[in-house]
Amino acid sequence: MQISLEKISLFPPEQYVYAEQVRALAKDIFGENPKACVVTYGCQQNVSDSEHYKGMLSLMGFSFIDEPSEADFILYNTCAVRGHAEDRVYGNIGVVKNYKRKRPNTILAVCGCMAQQDIVAERIRKSYPYVDMVLGTQVQHRLPEFLYKRLSGSNRIFERQLDNADIIEDIPLSRDGRLKGWLPIMYGCNNFCTYCIVPYVRGRERSRHPDMILKEAREMVAAGFKDITLLGQNVNSYGNGCDFGVDFPDLLRMINDIPGDFRIRFMTSHPKDCTIKLLDAMRDCEKVAKHLHLPFQSGSDRILKLMNRKYNRETYLGLIKAARERMPDISLTSDIIVGFPGETYEDFCDTISLVNEVKFSSLFTFIYSARTGTPAAAMEDPASREEKGIWFRELLLAQEKIAKENSKNFIGKTFRVLCDDFGKKEGYMSGHTSGNCSVDFKAKKEMLGKFVDVKITDYTNMLIGEII
Ligand code: 5AD
Ligand code: SF4
Repeated sequence: MQISLEKISLFPPEQYVYAEQVRALAKDIFGENPKACVVTYGCQQNVSDSEHYKGMLSLMGFSFIDEPSEADFILYNTCAVRGHAEDRVYGNIGVVKNYKRKRPNTILAVCGCMAQQDIVAERIRKSYPYVDMVLGTQVQHRLPEFLYKRLSGSNRIFERQLDNADIIEDIPLSRDGRLKGWLPIMYGCNNFCTYCIVPYVRGRERSRHPDMILKEAREMVAAGFKDITLLGQNVNSYGNGCDFGVDFPDLLRMINDIPGDFRIRFMTSHPKDCTIKLLDAMRDCEKVAKHLHLPFQSGSDRILKLMNRKYNRETYLGLIKAARERMPDISLTSDIIVGFPGETYEDFCDTISLVNEVKFSSLFTFIYSARTGTPAAAMEDPASREEKGIWFRELLLAQEKIAKENSKNFIGKTFRVLCDDFGKKEGYMSGHTSGNCSVDFKAKKEMLGKFVDVKITDYTNMLIGEII
């Protein structure tokens, strides 16, 4: 396939030159063994970005530690989706002031989605003078340059350009895992759900060329990865507006054709773009996990309209039915927001009834958090925080009951499980089913990375099984 070059840029060669210069400077300033601590908040896209930050830091001679107080370079890769996550970051930035008293040469960088917002950059500029760099989401690949400049005495660095439209391929990468890995297929979001900050901090939707994705997937399989998660804010709009003529179901089939024993997962799917073509591809592709994360956010059509979600309860339930017709054992998960501005208890009851009807395997539930600059932040929000807290707990209890019933129904059934974590409990392996349910079972360490058939024997707070 011909690669259209206008949207693909490679990691700029001058960044390798800066990286070499940082390597030399860092040794002078920090000693033989400079140490970096990269702390990641938020979603899998941030986890994936952090793996690139670590790749570049590795190139610059840094090794990694978990303890920020002992690091020469601290990088907070932040999330802006909810206020709570932002508050934690401000708290942690505050503490670095004490570390810097003891280790004045330490460099602190605040990166990611928070760093992309004007109000955050201004607050840091005014109130946190010891933050060395604030780097937005689309200048990530210039870390060597910024570090070089700061280490050679430049002023504090604030870089937050958005929508340069290029996807930078080949940024150095140091993956955290050896079995489970992330594979971004697209960046940004065009949907502008009224509560969500993502389109403002991650820019417009951009899809990677399928050849680049396939190349990376093949490399991951060759390196022994057994569980590959394709990442995008809305994977179902993969390829929109691109001239390569491959949509997401096509891409799934192409990755499924790569030889090897591995699993393909993906997230996140927006219900408005989830098609029968996708469900058919999921059914047909033996390597694609039978798990669909399909956030519905609210069960009330009135609230869905206010959220600008562009589907309704009926169409959502239609998709669930179509998925289950094709894959009777499919595992379904979702995101829900409780207490969107103007939501009443009646609206909330529509959410509870949808949860009870679908019986999700698990849910990610959030209390609405107003994000400055989004349309919802300007909407009237009469329900009190306490009231929303009561609704939220009601939802948790409803889901807890369903999850217990689901798990008990697993007893006696056999699942194909990837052995992915050994020794959390002595002599036990933890593994994941195709539906992403976690199971503990007795196994030897040598089984790590293998797929085995496990029969579920018990459920307490965890599924317990035995290899058959
Ligand atoms: N408040 C609460 N939850 C939010 N999410 C996104 N924005 C907000 C917000 N302002 C949730 C949605 C989304 C998930 C990643 O985070 O449920 O699907
Ligand atoms: Fe936010 Fe909606 Fe885009 Fe998801 S689809 S990132 S909720 S705007």
